[in-house]
Amino acid sequence: MALAATFASKISDGSLSVGIIGLGYVGLPTAIGFHDAGFNVWGVDVSQRTVDMVKAGQNPTGDPDVDDIVPAPGTENWHITTSTAEAVPHCDVVLVTVPTPITHDLKPDLSYVEAAGRAVFEAIPKGSNTIVVLESTVYPGVTAQTWMPIVEELGLVIGEDVNIAYCPERFNPGDAAHGVRSVARVIGCADEDVGHALVELYSKLTSEDVRYVGKLEVAEAAKVIENVQRDINIALVNELARIFPAMDVDVEDVLSAAATKWNFHRYTPGVGVGGHCIPVDPYYMIQRAADVGVPAGLITAARAVNRSMPNHVAGVLHDLLYQAGVPAGEGRVLLLGWSYKPEVGDPRETPAEPLAEALQAKNVHVAAWDPHLEGAELPDSVEVIADLEAAEGFDLAVLVTAHQACLSLDWGALQGRMRRSIVYDGRRVLDLEALGALGWQAHAVGRPASE
Ligand SMILES: NC(=O)c1ccc[n+]([C@@H]2O[C@H](COP(=O)([O-])OP(=O)(O)OC[C@H]3O[C@@H](n4cnc5c(N)ncnc54)[C@H](O)[C@@H]3O)[C@@H](O)[C@H]2O)c1
Repeated sequence: MALAATFASKISDGSLSVGIIGLGYVGLPTAIGFHDAGFNVWGVDVSQRTVDMVKAGQNPTGDPDVDDIVPAPGTENWHITTSTAEAVPHCDVVLVTVPTPITHDLKPDLSYVEAAGRAVFEAIPKGSNTIVVLESTVYPGVTAQTWMPIVEELGLVIGEDVNIAYCPERFNPGDAAHGVRSVARVIGCADEDVGHALVELYSKLTSEDVRYVGKLEVAEAAKVIENVQRDINIALVNELARIFPAMDVDVEDVLSAAATKWNFHRYTPGVGVGGHCIPVDPYYMIQRAADVGVPAGLITAARAVNRSMPNHVAGVLHDLLYQAGVPAGEGRVLLLGWSYKPEVGDPRETPAEPLAEALQAKNVHVAAWDPHLEGAELPDSVEVIADLEAAEGFDLAVLVTAHQACLSLDWGALQGRMRRSIVYDGRRVLDLEALGALGWQAHAVGRPASE
């Protein structure tokens, strides 16, 4: 029987087992999604804390959408372990959802993909034809280049012992409308039959389109360019947010006017781009383009613009303090939000960190309040404000993350506790006129200082 048909029959009689390696922002909701879809699930994480929390029915990630959906201890067909060797022999398909960060010199760090792959391949029983799918974001060529040497070294035969495929995760943590069960998926695999078997499988996970797109590299490239495109689009508005105020024009007025045209795509400027994907994935593409000898000038320039935004904003804030008469070295800035993304407690690659560092380099005292994060998740050099009502004596409040809690805080009361009441909207989400009426001197990214 062709693999797709075998899969279809195992799916319908509920005997198909799915392993998930890495139970983070991507892996845990994926594991829960497959379990909810009726599969026998084996979840693995090297972090004892993560495994202990998931086993206890708790959410170890900062994604609030996962809070109430982790299966309770003892749930049938739900196995959580730190041991890849224990889990893999039970699985027909193993999905790998481990981190793909960048190194300090902005190069792809594939060590997690390699280590997780090795642990999986070492545990695959001979003759089991287990399908191993990489879901982590990578540049084209990574799955085969990283995993095939291990497969060959271990003497595993493709199509008999193992198959490898790539299916990028696209869901958006903290965005219930784009969860693992509601995003379209693309599958790349050298073997078409395996590709179609995986279409059967993922079609049970998501209600959206699932498509076999051909070889591994097509699916790998699709994922990385999705994030490259977002980085470029955001870089354009961030660049405009620096140009237009110099002409005494508010970039948001320009964007609103331009957006009346049917084919204009609107993006919003901000203090910078954060997270595990958009500020990281373009470097994977830049590296791969360099490897094949083709310049990636546009992608590189966009990255440079977005990377420079925290520093640019720090300069603007420093000028505001100076203009308000704050003596050098005595400025006190309160950052509202630290997480890179609204409603999610995720500090990875947050632009708040380089913003704070750039302010501190100008001898400005930086404090931060983020109701979605524990204080220990912020750098030691930043004063953590646990209770906003106790925050007082600041010169400048900066809206860094558009958490609902930041938007709807008691702005009148906060103004009363400020030493100088200057506010800077780093996300263009505040009603600046209403704040002005409350006594705030309101500024914003992309807005001329004179307004
Ligand atoms: N977070 C997102 O919004 C998002 C969205 C789409 C794609 N992605 C991509 O998905 C991948 C995973 O991202 P994430 O946000 O879930 O990362 P994460 O750091 O939240 O989770 C990764 C998990 O893998 C575990 N891990 C590391 N090595 C392991 C190993 N050898 N065996 C078992 N577990 C291991 C870690 O302990 C961690 O819990 C990345 O490539 C990322 O770019 C992320």
